Amino acid sequence: MQSGTAHIVGVEITAPHLCITWSDGGTKQFHPIWLQENSSVAIDPNTGQRKDEAFEYPLDLAVISAELDAGSILVTFSNGKSGTIAAAALTSSVAEGSNLPLPDVVPQPWGAATEIPEHIHFHDFAAAPDSRLDALTRLAQFGFVFIDGVPVADGGLLQVTDRIGPIKETNFGRIEDVKVALNPTDLTLTAGGIEMHTDNPYRWPTPGYTVLHCLQNTVQGGESTLVDGLTAVSRLETEAPELLSAICRTRPQFRYEDRHAVLEFSGPLVERDIDGRVRQVRFSNRTEYVPALPVDELDQYYAGRQRFAALLRSADLLKQFRFVPGLLLIMDNFRCLHGRMPYDAGSGTRHLQLCFLDRDVVTSRWRVLNRMHDLTPELQRPATVTDGPGQHATP
Ligand SMILES: [Fe+2]
Repeated sequence: MQSGTAHIVGVEITAPHLCITWSDGGTKQFHPIWLQENSSVAIDPNTGQRKDEAFEYPLDLAVISAELDAGSILVTFSNGKSGTIAAAALTSSVAEGSNLPLPDVVPQPWGAATEIPEHIHFHDFAAAPDSRLDALTRLAQFGFVFIDGVPVADGGLLQVTDRIGPIKETNFGRIEDVKVALNPTDLTLTAGGIEMHTDNPYRWPTPGYTVLHCLQNTVQGGESTLVDGLTAVSRLETEAPELLSAICRTRPQFRYEDRHAVLEFSGPLVERDIDGRVRQVRFSNRTEYVPALPVDELDQYYAGRQRFAALLRSADLLKQFRFVPGLLLIMDNFRCLHGRMPYDAGSGTRHLQLCFLDRDVVTSRWRVLNRMHDLTPELQRPATVTDGPGQHATP
């Protein structure tokens, strides 16, 4: 594979394909349909979108001639069309099955002893695009990020999320209050301990990111816990791959029901991507309903679930912290699990607010911020101009 700094030194027709050679010795054959659908024949220069119906190109399309000229290649095809394709497009083509939380950021699995960067302060986050880029990059690396000093006010968490994108509204509303309720519909709204879990696996799509913001916490107990699902999956794969396989293939149902909502979704505790990477972790003991499968299958599933849960609780994986007023946590709800120790409701008040962000919203904001960071200052777009639905948000 050619390196990022290599340049094209040769083009050769290997009918019907085109073979490119780079200065570092790398070579690659390109399919004629791929070349035409990514060339100026098919791509609208203003939007970057495809204007041709590429699925109608003849399957026996061939490259007739190719000419390298100043960073682009002029290609003539057997259907009589000619178009240019930038050399850079040949090295930056879309990777098959690449659905990393944020593109180009490699997740770093962590445990209790892993040193995590200092919290980001809200003033920096609000004022500086680079601080917001830093926050979202950390979110992709570690699956969570803390922001200190977020205004302690009803809806204060929106001062963070509005700078990322629109939040996901659910049947619980735009923002949920997490505190002891008189007639709770969810165990979260009690003073009891909450086991490690991901949020709302009974929804489809599952909320991509959970945002928690502390307004008040004067109770005894109630410490919060956080664990990296990637680390737990990796441990299970090493010590008992057959158990990991069992929790990857069995699809329990997750369900939430109250007077106004019936939410159900079936999915495995660990879902992998096409390339084997963990796409999503689901774990929610209080909302999980396992089908009465053949007993041999359940033997494996229950053993896998038990071992996975033990890893999620293990002292060398778990980070424990206490929410203080103004502290805000964003978690990757496809990767990290969180919980809470029980607390004494008579000892004070514990009040958090919660909302969700979809995955595409966070990824989009990261890409916009990254694009701004990469551009030279004179090319940077004004801070008030953004793309798409998040137009109210500053980059
Ligand atoms: Fe939760």
